[in-house]
Formats: sequence, C-alpha cells, structure tokens
Amino acid sequence: MGVEHLDPVHPVATSDRYSGSNHPMRAVTRSIAFEDGWGPERADFVRGVFDGLAEEWTATRGGPGRTLQLGDALDRGGVGGGTAVELGSGTGLVSHLLAQHFDRVVAVDLSLEMLRHAVDDAPAVNADAARLPLPDGVADALVLMNMFLFPTEVDRCLAPDGALVWVSSRAEDTPIHLAPEEVVRALAEAGCGDWSGTACRAGEGSWCVLRRT
Ligand SMILES: C[S@@+](CC[C@H](N)C(=O)[O-])C[C@H]1O[C@@H](n2cnc3c(N)ncnc32)[C@H](O)[C@@H]1O
Repeated sequence: MGVEHLDPVHPVATSDRYSGSNHPMRAVTRSIAFEDGWGPERADFVRGVFDGLAEEWTATRGGPGRTLQLGDALDRGGVGGGTAVELGSGTGLVSHLLAQHFDRVVAVDLSLEMLRHAVDDAPAVNADAARLPLPDGVADALVLMNMFLFPTEVDRCLAPDGALVWVSSRAEDTPIHLAPEEVVRALAEAGCGDWSGTACRAGEGSWCVLRRT
C-alpha cells in the first residue's frame, strides 16, 4: 500500500526563503517522532520559543497561500465531516478552512501566547499533544501543520477510520517537517500499525493524508 504520490493540481513553487533543513527544530522533530524525545525540559523550551513568536506569527506567516496545501489535502484526500482536532494550531491560520469542512473543530496548542493571538474563535485548548486531554478515538481527523508528530497520541485519539492530515507549508524546507514515508515509518515503529494514503505538493508546500490499513 504505502504512500501514493499524486500529480499536483496547483502550481508547485520553491521557497526562496532560507531552507529549514538545517534548522534546530528539524532534529527535535525527528527525535520526537522516532525516539520518544519529549520531556518537561523540551516542552518548556518549545513553549518558550513559540510564546516568543506569537505576536509576529500571523503577520509573518499568514496570507492566502497558507491554506493552499490543507485545502488540497482535504479535497483530494477525501477528508471532512465530524470532528477535526488541529494539533499545534498556532494562531489558527487555517481554522476558518477547517470550519468549512468539519462539523466541529478544536484547536490545541502548547503555547498559550499563540492561542491568545488567535485570529479565529474556534474552541481552543492549551495542552501538550504528547498527553492530550481527549478521549480515545474522538477525532475523525487530526490535522498537523508544521507540527511535531507524537505517534502514540495520534493513534490513540484518532477514530478507527479517521484521517491523519499532515501538512508542511514549505515542504522539505519547513523546519518542523517529516516526509510522508517518515510519518508512516514513525507510526509503525511506535507500534501504531500500518498506515497508508496519498500525498502531493501544492505551492511551496506538501501534504499527505494517512489512514490505518
Ligand atoms: C511551527 S508552529 C505552526 C503553527 C500553525 N500550525 C501554523 O502552521 O501556522 C508549531 C506550533 O505547534 C505548537 N506546539 C509545539 N509543540 C507542541 C505540543 N507538544 N503540543 C501542542 N502544541 C505544540 C507550537 O506552540 C506552535 O504553535
């Protein structure tokens, strides 16, 4: 099964900003996905980084292109309806798009400052995605855009037929990034079973939609 890479329907562009491939968050992303590398010290560090970025986040990251990959993922990945939980929602730059596709949307972020600067009034929870205050199987979709992957919590909170929507707004130039195949491998290595799905590029970014096989 694996990941099927679809032909793009939106023009693909290369980011002309710095490459995030050597960004310190890249190593953190891998450590969390593959080595269970999360603890109180790292949580404090990450919270501090994003608390500090919250005020400028919407002005520097917002804009029409921000929703392109997610919209493509939802449309072509066949995702919609029911409850979507967005993990690492930041200032909610895609909350309005999620509200158009789902009956209920909940935003979750570790950084209270990010939530305080939200541009949307979606219900929000200040929580750590490593220990979500959510019941098992509650989400029909878990949406992670430029966010760390916590494999076992994703597996626990996602409904049996639910979809994991993974978006990198600048594809492999995104600091917090895993390729679709790495997401599948991280889930398998964490004991969360086999996953497969579709992936594509759009604009400067990329997405994949994965479900359990
Ligand atoms: C790179 S930002 C992306 C924000 C938003 N998704 C976007 O694309 O504009 C990563 C976000 O994930 C949040 N985050 C990081 N670790 C988290 C965790 N363990 N639990 C919940 N949120 C977390 C950060 O506070 C930050 O808002």
